[in-house]
Order: sequence, then structure tokens, then C-alpha cells
Amino acid sequence: MTPLALTESTHVLVLTGAGVSAESGVPTFRGVGGLWEGNRVEAVASPEGFAKDPALVWRFYGLRRQAGLTVSPNPGHHALAALEQRLGDRFLLATQNVDGLHRRAGSTRVLSIHGELYESRCERCGVPFADERHYLGEPVPLCGRCGARVRVNVVWFGESLDGAHLEAIDGFITRAGKNLAFVAVGTSGQVWPAAGLVDAARAVGGHAVLVDLEPTPDYARRFHRVEAGKSGEVLPRLFGQRP
Ligand code: OAD
Repeated sequence: MTPLALTESTHVLVLTGAGVSAESGVPTFRGVGGLWEGNRVEAVASPEGFAKDPALVWRFYGLRRQAGLTVSPNPGHHALAALEQRLGDRFLLATQNVDGLHRRAGSTRVLSIHGELYESRCERCGVPFADERHYLGEPVPLCGRCGARVRVNVVWFGESLDGAHLEAIDGFITRAGKNLAFVAVGTSGQVWPAAGLVDAARAVGGHAVLVDLEPTPDYARRFHRVEAGKSGEVLPRLFGQRP
């Protein structure tokens, strides 16, 4: 495989999705065995679903918190952490994953655009706090200060992403211009605005690469280059870390 051409001015923006954590044993969302199989998305991942049945929603995320504590970063996460070590501020990682595995692998320039599984926040006070407890249904946790319901700090369908994250990504793309390499990894490109980053990268003259085990055709055709394979195997080679 030809490694990505990395010069002194190359800026790398990486977007990761569930596929990058698959080799750690974290299920993806879509496809056979995915988290959305057997779960109605809007029932467990929307504000309306939480209002209707908070215990069901907490059970879904409680089980994910429980399972997530037993997994570890894989070579794909480590390859990204190593690339950041090399590029410093010319690297930015936007992840749709809420599992925290990028930070556990040593990545620091990470924007968790879909939130954090191991954080909760009061529906009224709003301030997120670290929380590893796995509520598996009743009783649903309540805020110790105001008594309102506490929810997991992830972004649900119908909710907006953090504006500061979007601005940081936008700023990085603008600064990089034609020196930008955009690398999407393990994502089906079904969820916006993350799915639109490839177009923003190309609009400034950037080079776009997709790494995915089974690339989604509609998404893949928007990239210059597609590497079909497991991220744990492809990324170290793509970044020239392994012959
Ligand atoms: P998906 O489940 O939609 O897609 C996972 C992608 O990973 C697929 O394209 C697989 O082919 C690929 N894949 C699987 N194993 C892989 C491996 N070992 N190496 C590389 N690729 C692999 O997950 P996302 O695209 O992340 O949002 O989903 C995006 C968002 O939709 C999620 O953040 C979540 C979900 O609904 C919210 O919960 C708001």
C-alpha cells in the first residue's frame, strides 16, 4: 500500500466512526449484530425516547458502559495516537465514537462530536460530569442539586452538535487549505454533519481518503481514495508506521 504523502506542511484531519473500535470488540451501529439491530433508534437515542421511557434508555447506555469497561484500544487507535505525536497541531481527530478509546490510546487532540458515554449531565443544570455507573433501568438517576433527571452526555438524534467543536473543525480545514489530508475511518457516512466533512475538505482542495472494512458505496464515491480493510491493519501502513 502506498503510504499517505506527509510533508512538513501536511495537516491531517481524521474522522472516526464505530468501525475503528470494532477490533476492540465494541459493536458498530448498522449491519448485522449492530447496536441498531433489535433496538429502535428513536426509542433509545432521542430526547423524545428518553422523555417517554428513561429507564429503557438508561438500560441501553448502562449496558454499553458496562461492556466498554472491559475493552481496550486496538492498533487503529494506537496508529492515530502515533500520528498525532508526529504532527502535533497539524493533526485533529473528530470522533463520532463515545467509548473514550482514542484518549485511552493516548490521543489528545480529540473532539468527541457525539459526546461521551462515561459522562452524564442533569437535564436542567446541564453541566457534564464523569460517570461510570451503569444504571440498568429503575431507579433513573436524579440530580442531587435540583432533582431533575440525569441523562447520559451523548448527542441524540434531533440534537445539535457542540458549536465549538464545529468551529474548531472548520478552522482547522480553513488553515490547512490544500495541505489538508482528510481521512475517514470506519464510518458508514449516514449521519450528518459528520458525513459532510469530506465535502468541506475537498472544497478547500484537500485530499480525501476513506478506510473502511465494507465501504458504503454512496459515501465512498465522494473520496479520492478508498482503502477497504480493517482499520487496525490499514492505518499503520497508511501512515508509514509499518512496512
Ligand atoms: P456505522 O455502524 O454506521 O458504520 C460502521 C462502519 O465501520 C461500517 O462502514 C463498517 O463497514 C465499518 N467497519 C466495521 N468494522 C471495521 C473495521 N475493523 N475496520 C474499519 N471499518 C470497519 O457507524 P458510524 O458510521 O460510526 O450516532 O455511525 C455514525 C453514528 O450513527 C454514530 O455515532 C451514532 C449512530 O447512530 C449517534 O448515536 C448520535
